[in-house]
Amino acid sequence: TDATASQADAPKKMALPDAQTVTQVTHWTDRLFSFRVTRPASLRFRSGEFVMIGLMGDPNPDTGKQKPLLRAYSIASPSWDEELEFYSIKVQDGPLTSKLQHIQPGDEIILRPKPVGTLVHDALLPGKRIWFFATGTGFAPFASLLRDPQTFEDYDEIVITHTCREAGELEYGAALIESLKHDELLNEVIGEGFWKKIRYYPTTTREESPKMGRITDLMRSGAAFEDLGVAPLNPETDRAMICGNLAFNLELKEMLEEYGLEEGANSDPKHYVVEKAFLD
Ligand code: A2P
Repeated sequence: TDATASQADAPKKMALPDAQTVTQVTHWTDRLFSFRVTRPASLRFRSGEFVMIGLMGDPNPDTGKQKPLLRAYSIASPSWDEELEFYSIKVQDGPLTSKLQHIQPGDEIILRPKPVGTLVHDALLPGKRIWFFATGTGFAPFASLLRDPQTFEDYDEIVITHTCREAGELEYGAALIESLKHDELLNEVIGEGFWKKIRYYPTTTREESPKMGRITDLMRSGAAFEDLGVAPLNPETDRAMICGNLAFNLELKEMLEEYGLEEGANSDPKHYVVEKAFLD
């Protein structure tokens, strides 16, 4: 029977430490994919946090021993979800993502159940408007925060900027934002029409799209504020979270400081927080 066959197969399967099972994989472009895995029953996290995930590395040629190959991944799913979602780049020669991009439902990954991170509501002082600034896979923590009722309870307005090279790289974020309109929990807890609080500002830098340019340049020229119909950032009203590549994080951090915003932390909440998006 099938049961005996799978039992006979079982010993061949590698027993991973902290194993979780892949339940779904979606390939968005040749460079990007998202996947869902089972959630350890004991895992609690705050929207915006990350965990270490990975696979077993290749055996050491001398000893034959294998070590886990782990990287920090923002949890893209909300804290109430029974599964965990991740959004990843595929780097063809990346130690982890060259392998991770081939996972299929039923496969196992390693997930260390110790969530940490700075992109959390606790690290910000109360405000009127929150800005989520992302490039590439830096959208992931915001996919979590955007499905958290607290985001809509705490702020009157949520501005999401996402800068990518190509238009296809915006799709995961665009689909997530569209799906919020039909999110049962948010509609129930926040009320119908809550999504009107969202201002979504996707831009591309290397392929034609309705809005071209780096968000940093679009803010400097004033075009972003004009397009969005909101005033430039002000420490009295605006809060921000940044998650993208290193150069982006540094440049935007400097700009926010020029607007008078100060960096916060869990232990010392202020006006903005930063985290680097994972790159293999
Ligand atoms: P650009 O194409 O002009 O480099 P990457 O895929 O390399 O991580 O980049 C993701 C997006 O972030 C790209 O659109 C890239 O624009 C943009 N980007 C890179 N560096 C900066 C920066 N310092 N400020 C704003 N955007 C940046």
